[in-house]
Amino acid sequence: MTGVSHHFGETSRPPVLDGIDLAVAPGEFVCLLGASGCGKSTLLALVAGLDQPTAGTVEVPAGSPALMFQEPALFPWLTAGANVELALRLRGVPRNQRRAEALRLLSLVRLEDAHAKRVHELSGGMRQRVALARALAQEGELLLMDEPFAALDAITRDVLHEELTRIWSETGRAVLFVTHNVREAVRLGQRVVLLSSRPGRIAREWTVDIPHPRRIEDPDVSRLSLEITDHLRTEIARHGH
Ligand SMILES: Nc1ncnc2c1ncn2[C@@H]1O[C@H](COP(=O)(O)OP(=O)(O)O)[C@@H](O)[C@H]1O
Ligand SMILES: [Mg+2]
Repeated sequence: MTGVSHHFGETSRPPVLDGIDLAVAPGEFVCLLGASGCGKSTLLALVAGLDQPTAGTVEVPAGSPALMFQEPALFPWLTAGANVELALRLRGVPRNQRRAEALRLLSLVRLEDAHAKRVHELSGGMRQRVALARALAQEGELLLMDEPFAALDAITRDVLHEELTRIWSETGRAVLFVTHNVREAVRLGQRVVLLSSRPGRIAREWTVDIPHPRRIEDPDVSRLSLEITDHLRTEIARHGH
């Protein structure tokens, strides 16, 4: 996106987003970090084409980007497999190939055994895995994730960080991952982009060259997280939150 600014309604207030230039390279993993209310979800919605920016342009690669939210937003009366197959159907995958493809995607998120289970039988972490398999069922080369693990307990989140890193490297998809959790951003991203609040601008960005496998407790992850947290605090203090 280039020069993207966004207002909701009244234009006299500072814009939610102001002059954002952000590019995600094919296969790149970028974490967008910022305090609550700074405009992260707004930015993601613009990339997803759910809303049009007040100014500036958004370009996305061929195939609409797949979206994943904090809530898995699955159809509760369908099985895990049927939720994934629905996304395949919407993509135009022929009926006779859908089951095999859904099983392949569920095994990618290590849930092949849950194919026939209904969503209400699954734990929160398993539901997010199904949501990830469903996102991967879409053809887009870009995966947009809006705080997808924020509602999970720390242990489940840790496991899903590992799975997401593995799936990212196996599938070669680009990921734009939104979070307010600094360590999570450093644990996952190749690049961390810090967004300021009101107006939302890119305050700073960091390249994370810590090799994988990374853990959230690694000293290198902690060190960079501390540095970023200091910048985040400065941003928050500046805007009087
Ligand atoms: N549809 C909307 N109409 C008016 N204001 C909105 C709308 N959506 C979000 N906002 C406001 O825009 C700001 C950024 O929101 P959001 O992008 O959800 O922040 P974040 O995801 O970083 O927590 C907030 O102040 C929020 O109240
Ligand atoms: Mg949000």
